[in-house]
Amino acid sequence: MLYTDRGPSPRSSMSAAAAGGSAPRPALALALAVALALTLSPSPAQATAGGFSCRPGARPVVFNFGDSNSDTGGMAAAKGWHIAPPEGRAFFHHPTGRFCDGRLVIDFLCESLNISYLSPYLKAIGSNYSNGVNFAISGSTTLPRDALFVLHGQVQEFFFFKARSLELINQGQEAPIDAEAFQNALYIIDIGQNDINALLSNLPYDQVVAKLPPILAEIKYAVQLLYGNGSRNFWIHGTGALGCLPQKLSIPRKNDSDLDQNGCLSTYNRAAVAFNTALGSLCDQLSVELKNATVVYTDLFAIKYDLVANHTKYGFDSPLMTCCGYGGPPYNYDLSRSCQSSNSTVCADGSKFISWDGVHLTEAANAVVAAAILSSTYSRPKLKFDQFCKAR
Ligand SMILES: *[C@@H]1O[C@H](CO)[C@@H](O)[C@H](O)[C@H]1NC(C)=O
Ligand SMILES: *[C@@H]1O[C@H](CO)[C@@H](O)[C@H](O)[C@H]1NC(C)=O
Ligand SMILES: *[C@@H]1O[C@H](CO)[C@@H](O)[C@H](O)[C@H]1NC(C)=O
Ligand SMILES: *[C@@H]1O[C@H](CO)[C@@H](O)[C@H](O)[C@H]1NC(C)=O
Ligand SMILES: *[C@@H]1O[C@H](CO)[C@@H](O)[C@H](O)[C@H]1NC(C)=O
Ligand SMILES: *[C@@H]1O[C@H](CO)[C@@H](O)[C@H](O)[C@H]1NC(C)=O
Ligand SMILES: *[C@@H]1O[C@H](CO)[C@@H](O)[C@H](O)[C@H]1NC(C)=O
Repeated sequence: MLYTDRGPSPRSSMSAAAAGGSAPRPALALALAVALALTLSPSPAQATAGGFSCRPGARPVVFNFGDSNSDTGGMAAAKGWHIAPPEGRAFFHHPTGRFCDGRLVIDFLCESLNISYLSPYLKAIGSNYSNGVNFAISGSTTLPRDALFVLHGQVQEFFFFKARSLELINQGQEAPIDAEAFQNALYIIDIGQNDINALLSNLPYDQVVAKLPPILAEIKYAVQLLYGNGSRNFWIHGTGALGCLPQKLSIPRKNDSDLDQNGCLSTYNRAAVAFNTALGSLCDQLSVELKNATVVYTDLFAIKYDLVANHTKYGFDSPLMTCCGYGGPPYNYDLSRSCQSSNSTVCADGSKFISWDGVHLTEAANAVVAAAILSSTYSRPKLKFDQFCKAR
């Protein structure tokens, strides 16, 4: 069964030296140039202002929870995977454990705050947690709660990290993040894609929708636990346009009656929208219930579907084809020859593609998505991403 977002099996031939490495310095200018060139923000002036209005001296700290959409190397570290090129080829120039040719959305968001990329919680060498921690792990779901690396487990890892940090500080020792920074930090959650995909591959639409509430309840519980422990700033991402992913589109079907006008699978997308609608309402509810907390919901479906529907506007050629895969048009995706397998082929110019490997987006697409998030157009309430590190 296609457990979507779980990382592909690593190629064994790769040298250990290629993976890992220290986090490169943010290429701030490049990200801004991309954001401006795409003119997603209402005006260039606003785009420039976005991300840099932190109170002087305020230190933005970010904790991220999620799946491979925001895994900056956690699963690779946990499993000792030697992820092979062409992963990372467009930006880091070596594999980093990200399933992408370059930066993920979370990397662009960190650049917008002028902070280093988040180190994975489980990466033992070369990590620096002074700007936050990334708990995201490829393949993660919300349920079942006792499975390894699910959302609840990631939150428990956070509590472990926090308790050890405060313990060290109480003993007069150094820790990268102190009590005040924990409280003022931004807590990002981007999860659910793997839960929904697993349901969709087994059940008809109505039964999938009936099984969404327990997934949402896990996200709610995670926010409540973090809030109960003093966290106040939350940024929650909805799920993407699952029905436009080449991996889903390449599953054999009887006929094309489920395809919409953009060639995406309507049933998958309807499920994604149903999830997001409920998640948005949950965030509204939490905003009211949790005193002094800010809970921003961002509709990643709208952003990622726009990317496909309006791909020419963003400079993409084949919106439903992978850059790294096998088989040629229409999807260039073959499960047994996926990007990390030895028989896959890779396109010359990834910046012309939305899909990197059939499940994950290219760096070029991630740049557009991040710019859309930073524009606040798709968020509720429409706060600037850097809002949290202002004086409160
Ligand atoms: C970004 O951070 C660097 C070093 O921390 C600092 O020198 C620079 O002024 C910052 N830039 C902005 C726009 O805040
Ligand atoms: C960790 O990152 C912070 C902020 O970017 C920096 O000031 C510090 O020197 C780094 N620590 C190490 C050990 O590299
Ligand atoms: C927050 O979590 C830490 C570590 O688990 C725990 O020691 C502390 O009691 C918790 N605080 C609250 C207010 O829940
Ligand atoms: C297409 O397939 C669906 C089920 O997958 C079926 O319900 C529908 O009747 C089919 N349409 C045509 C025109 O064959
Ligand atoms: C909310 O903020 C006010 C003012 O800072 C503070 O007095 C109050 O204790 C806070 N309440 C909670 C539940 O955090
Ligand atoms: C495509 O772009 C147009 C013009 O900006 C916009 O009105 C429309 O909503 C976009 N389509 C999607 C599916 O987002
Ligand atoms: C990959 O290519 C090799 C050599 O052509 C072939 O022996 C092998 O069966 C291929 N593997 C797959 C999964 O197609």
